[in-house]
This record gives sequence, C-alpha cells and structure tokens, in this order.
Amino acid sequence: MINHIGILTSGGDAPGMNTALYAVVKTAQQFNIKVTGIRKGFEGLINNDLISLDLETLQSTMHLGGTILKTARCDAFKTVQGRQSAINTINKNGIDALIIIGGDGSFKGAMWLMQLSDIQCIGIPGTIDNDLAGTDYTLGFDTAVNTSMQCIDKIRDTAESHNRVFVIEVMGRDSGYIAAYSGLTSGADAILIPESKNDILRLLAKIKSYHSEHAFIVVVAEGDETGTEIVCNKIKSVNPLIDVRLTKLGHLQRGGNPTANDRMLAIGLGSLSVHALVENKTGVMAGIINNKYCLTKFESIFKKHEITEEVEELLSMFSS
Ligand code: F6P
Repeated sequence: MINHIGILTSGGDAPGMNTALYAVVKTAQQFNIKVTGIRKGFEGLINNDLISLDLETLQSTMHLGGTILKTARCDAFKTVQGRQSAINTINKNGIDALIIIGGDGSFKGAMWLMQLSDIQCIGIPGTIDNDLAGTDYTLGFDTAVNTSMQCIDKIRDTAESHNRVFVIEVMGRDSGYIAAYSGLTSGADAILIPESKNDILRLLAKIKSYHSEHAFIVVVAEGDETGTEIVCNKIKSVNPLIDVRLTKLGHLQRGGNPTANDRMLAIGLGSLSVHALVENKTGVMAGIINNKYCLTKFESIFKKHEITEEVEELLSMFSS
C-alpha cells in the first residue's frame, strides 16, 4: 500500500521533466497519495532537501523546460555513506516509493537503493540523448531534435549565402540519435554518428565532388569518434580552398519548452508510473515501444539503444 511517493529528477535536465511532475501529482491525487519533491536529484535525498508539491503550481510550470526540482550528477551517492544517508531520509519522511526521472546513471542509483531497502522504485526516461533501451523515445529528445533542426536551418541560410561548408556538432554523448534526426530533418549532406564507421568515408567521398555553388552541411554527434575539429581538417585536406566553419550547438539543445510530443510522453509515462506503484511494481522503467506504454526492468535498459535499421538506411541514402 503506497501512501507517500518521493520524486526526483537526476542527471542532465530534459524538456518534459516538469510535465512529468505534473502528471505524477495529478494521477497520485486520484489515489489519495501524497507526493513530495526531492531537490537536486540524489543530492537532495542525501541532504534531506525536500519540498511539498502542489498541483496548481505544477500546472503552471508543466510547459517549461528544465526541472523545477533542480538536478545534479551526484558523486556522494556513489559512496556507501551517501546511500545510507539517502535511506535515512526515506525512512525519516515515511516515503514508500520513489519515482526517478533521469537516464541510465539515475536508474543504477535506484537499484542501489533497492538493494539496501524495501523502497519501491519506478523510473521515467528523461534525457535528450534517447540512449535508453526499453523505450523508443525519452523525454526531451523530440524537443532537442526540433531545437537542433531549427538551428541548422538558420545556419543553412548563411551557409547558402556564402556557399560555405558548415560542420555542426550536436549533443549525444554516446548516441547518434539527435544527429540522425536533426541531420535528416534539416537536409544535411552528411551525418556522422558514433554507431557508424563508414560515415566519415562517405563524407570524404562526397566532398570531393563539392562544387562550391551551394552550402554543404555536415552534422556530427558529440560522441562521434572522429570529432568535429578533425572532420574540418579532413575536409580541408581534400580541398584546401573549401571555406569551412565549425559550430557547436551545445547546451542550448537542452533548453526550451517541451514539444507536444514530449509533453504527451511525459503525461503518459508520469501517469503510468503511479499506476505501476499502486499495482506493487518496482525496479522498472516506464517507456513507450511501438506506440504502447510499457514497463521494462532496470537491468534491461542499460544495453545500447540501437539506431533502427530504417533510420540507418535513410542515413546511408541521404548522406551519399
Ligand atoms: O543530458 C545528456 C547530455 O546533454 C549529453 O548529450 C551531453 O554529453 C551531456 O549531457 C553534457 O553534460 P553536462 O551538462 O554535465 O556538461
């Protein structure tokens, strides 16, 4: 029987986190369950940094990017002492269950807590990188792709005017999802992602026939092993006369109001998480696969979220 849920956001913030908070509290209210916010991720759990959440406030912030709970990447939680303090906070405040919104590191944290206590834990995937197995999409990914796409569109305006080559780095620490989607949707000439070894060869073959009467846009995932500076040098080595510019989009990709798709995902997964706790589920992440909401054990979400074959084919066709 769940009476009191604690909720936290952890790791990199992602648009849609505030929408998920609203959805959790709204659903919990229907079961007469109290929800308490834990500030700054696991750090707040260690330091007993809690705030009460009221639905009206959450309703007025559900459309905002970032996370009103604040977030952190917490090293202290990796220590036994840190985890014991977290358990003390849980016990002291009578918290029966936790909802953790974050990425794979956050769910590893949840698993540690479950080893030390009976706390029920449900995860909601919140990361712009879309790098978690167990869900086709994570909160924030769609917003980040739209932001990157719009930035690339703007860069294209100036690139076309000068007939320049632009190498544009987008986020994705180990994953090419943002690069693949923002590159395809902005008509990029080449897209380099960590999942592919051939894309740099394809780019160099293509740049040989570049005739300088147009823009040439190369989108590179941050996690690609070649790296943007080397990509620029390689392009120059094919033809030193090519006018190359490098832009790193950086953290602006993590901000902004969540798109309708991200909000819808947050509402669905937020609501599912509370239902899952009421049904006594634990150690699972809420997700969406083939348009159906589902729950996947934490153990299964750490494997790589592969780029689908369909997207791979599109990448090879559109960047040749
Ligand atoms: O949240 C994911 C992510 O944005 C990655 O794409 C990026 O590599 C990383 O976070 C940046 O982290 P930080 O904000 O801690 O520099």
